[in-house]
Amino acid sequence: MKVLVLDGVEEEGLQALRREPDIEVDIPNKLTEDQLVGIIGEYDGMIVRSATKVNARVLEHATKLKVVGRAGVGVDNIDLAAATAKGVLVVNAPGGNTIAAAELTMAMMQSLARNIPQANATLRSGKWDKKSFMGVELRGKVLGVIGLGRIGSAVAKRAQGMEMRVVAYDPYITEENAAILGVKLLSLEEIFKQSDFITVHLPLTRESKYLLDEKAFETMKQGVRIINCARGGIIKESALYEAMKSGKVAGAALDVFEKEPNTDSPLFEFNNFIATPHLGASTQEAQLLVAVDVAEEIVAALKGEPVKNT
Ligand code: NAD
Ligand code: MLT
Repeated sequence: MKVLVLDGVEEEGLQALRREPDIEVDIPNKLTEDQLVGIIGEYDGMIVRSATKVNARVLEHATKLKVVGRAGVGVDNIDLAAATAKGVLVVNAPGGNTIAAAELTMAMMQSLARNIPQANATLRSGKWDKKSFMGVELRGKVLGVIGLGRIGSAVAKRAQGMEMRVVAYDPYITEENAAILGVKLLSLEEIFKQSDFITVHLPLTRESKYLLDEKAFETMKQGVRIINCARGGIIKESALYEAMKSGKVAGAALDVFEKEPNTDSPLFEFNNFIATPHLGASTQEAQLLVAVDVAEEIVAALKGEPVKNT
C-alpha cells in the first residue's frame, strides 16, 4: 500500500507508517492541484495539513484511496461530502496541537495588553518611545471564551493563572463541566456585554460563520480586545475593521483570516492590530504529536482496525 504525505508534515512523527513493511511512504515536494490529480490514483492513503485542498476533483481521481488524514484539528480543507460519497474515511489529530494554540492565544492576549510587537518594531526602527505604549493589566479583567472545548479550556486555565475572570459561551457544554474549570457559562449576548477580552475557539460552521459581526461588535464593551486563533470567518473582518476604526475595539489579534494566505488586509492600517500567518499549531512539539497521531490513525484505517478520530 502507498501513503502520500504532503504539506510538510513532521517526518519524525511518521514512525508508525515506516514500521509497516506493507506500507510505502512518499513525501514529494509541494504539488499543484493538477500534479496531485495526476498521481493520487496510485495511493491508498494520504496525509495533509491545511495547504492541500482535498476537493471533489482530487477525490474523483483517487481511485484506490481509503483514508485521508489531517495532521491537525480542522478538516475544512477536505470535502467531507465528496469523501463520504466515495467511501473514503477522513481522520484527524485533534489533541496534539491544543497547547500550541492555547499558548499562542495567551501570547496574543499579552501582546494586545502590552503592545509588544509595536514597541519592538518602533525600537528597532531607532525610536525609544515609551509614551505610545501604555498598556493594561490582565489581572481582574473578564475574558470571554467562545467555544470551551480543548483549546478554549486550556486558555481558560491559563487565563485564570493570570488572575482573569473567565466566562464562556458554548451551547454544547454543560454548566457542570464548565464549573469544574471554574468557568461560568453565559449567553452570547452577556459574553459580548461583560468581556474585556474575547477569544474564539470553535470550528467554522454555518452556525459560527460571522458570529462576530456588526451587531455583535455593537453589543460589546467600549475598548474590548479581540483574538481569533481558531478559524478565519468566525469574525467578519469588515465588521472588525469598522469597530476598530470607531474605537469600539481597542485591539485585535488574528492568526487566521477569511482568505489565506492574506498579506494585504485593510486591518493592517491599524497600529493596534496584530497578525500572525496561521501559526497556532506551529511548535515543534505540536507538529511531532499530530504527525504521530495521524500516522497511527492511517495505519489502523489501512489495516481495517478501529480508528479513534473520525
Ligand atoms: P474542540 O472541538 O475541542 O472545541 C470546539 C468547541 O466549540 C466545542 O466545545 C464545541 O461545543 C464548541 N462549539 C461548536 N460550535 C459552537 C458555536 N456555534 N458556538 C459556541 N461554541 C461552539 O476544538 P479545539 O481543538 O478546541 O479547536 C478549536 C478551533 O481551533 C478549531 O476551529 C480548530 O480548527 C482551530 N485550531 C486552530 C489552530 C491554528 O493554527 N490557529 C490550531 C489548532 C486548532
Ligand atoms: C488545525 O486546525 O489543527 C490548525 O489549523 C493547525 C494547522 O494549521 O495545522
